[in-house]
Amino acid sequence: MMVTATASQGGLKSHLSIDGGVGLSGVMTVSGAKNSALVLMTAALLTNEPVELCNVPDLTDIQGMGAILEALGVSVVRSPNSLKLTATHLKSSEPPYELVNCLRASFFSIGSLLGRLGHARVPLPGGCRIGARPVVEHIRGLKAMGAVVNVNHGLVTAALPGGLKRLKGASIVLDCPSVGATETLLMAAVLADGTSTIENAAKEPEVQDLANLLNCMGAKVSGAGGPVITVEGVERLHGCSAYSVIPDRIEAGTFLMAAAITRSTLRVEPVVPEHLNSVLQKLRDCGCQLEIDSVGITIRPGEIKAVDVITQPFPGFPTDLQAPFMALMATAQGTSVIAEKIYENRMQHVAELQRMGASIRIEGSTGIVEGVPRLSGAPVTGSDLRASAAMVLAALAADGTTQVSGLEHLDRGYADIEAKLNQVGASVRRQQS
Ligand code: UD1
Repeated sequence: MMVTATASQGGLKSHLSIDGGVGLSGVMTVSGAKNSALVLMTAALLTNEPVELCNVPDLTDIQGMGAILEALGVSVVRSPNSLKLTATHLKSSEPPYELVNCLRASFFSIGSLLGRLGHARVPLPGGCRIGARPVVEHIRGLKAMGAVVNVNHGLVTAALPGGLKRLKGASIVLDCPSVGATETLLMAAVLADGTSTIENAAKEPEVQDLANLLNCMGAKVSGAGGPVITVEGVERLHGCSAYSVIPDRIEAGTFLMAAAITRSTLRVEPVVPEHLNSVLQKLRDCGCQLEIDSVGITIRPGEIKAVDVITQPFPGFPTDLQAPFMALMATAQGTSVIAEKIYENRMQHVAELQRMGASIRIEGSTGIVEGVPRLSGAPVTGSDLRASAAMVLAALAADGTTQVSGLEHLDRGYADIEAKLNQVGASVRRQQS
């Protein structure tokens, strides 16, 4: 698989040096959705024919998933923006620990490996900085479809019991609308014998994207995007050419907030506005004008006023934009209350924002943010992907120069971030630490 310069830089110890207080103008281009692309890649395991994905972002996470698939025997060919994945001869059903450990979404391959091969052994993803992130819902659903699943020594082993050739369709009610569990079970159900229903399913756009790809491959999935997904199992799936990944709604939201925090008029495209309704509403509520057309959004921020936010599953406000929105609120007029309801430990950006002069108090998983007139540049470190994005936004608005470290996180989810920002007038340099 081709490794490009931008993403490979994530492996080196480097930082972004950002001169703040510079107005932005122009158009910011949104890449394909990381969280969709990662899961669509694992769907390629379900067929022996090539699956071609376009609009795939150039990210270290995508490279990591490519390496995992290659270890399983998949041919992975990358050309600019697209990936051709061919899983004709799988040589293993055991993604290697050292690769899975770095990439939680790779655990979701357990559903497609089980559906295709009848067995899989996948390391449990570790906890991560933002919370425990269990996979019990994935396992419960696979068991309901007839798999024998054991967890031993950090490995999840799933297999069809003797005599069974395919998983069995089942009615599954999720305890919580987990995105990953919904995707894992969807991929397991498409090749199962009979009809499956997944109730209390995640409604995120990435789940819809997966269902659309699976249907292009010959699956029979209906209801994705709603609370109940129905899957009529089929005996085999075929390949698919030029399936285009949806635009990344989290990257788009981050760029809209970059405009708001620098009080700059910007155009952000391509965007599917319905994927961002809760975010657009909050941006309007805090004083931004939005012009929405079929391709993108032009944002014209006014005086930014404080608004409250509670993170929720889609279509609520996404947890992945909580940290960037908090950076924006740190510069707003008034006090906002930002409640994190998805992850128990997703407030680590607060201490770093405080180093830049933000006034934030934490009570449990809630941040109470009193806006200040100016943030000030300082050396800061992003502790996870979206915390790093929050640091970049704060830096764009701060007086002086900010040094943002922790790029190994940022490069997982934001393709070409400095080039995209510099193109609209920001002053961002990647430097060796
Ligand atoms: C996905 C996204 C991630 C996003 C998250 C929530 C990908 C690759 N990642 O992660 O960026 O932050 O959705 O929008 O798509 N839970 C359980 N039991 C389970 C599974 C989950 O209690 O078996 C809980 C989790 O602890 C968490 C909540 O459900 O509180 C949401 O998790 P989930 O939707 O599973 O997140 P991911 O799919 O891992």
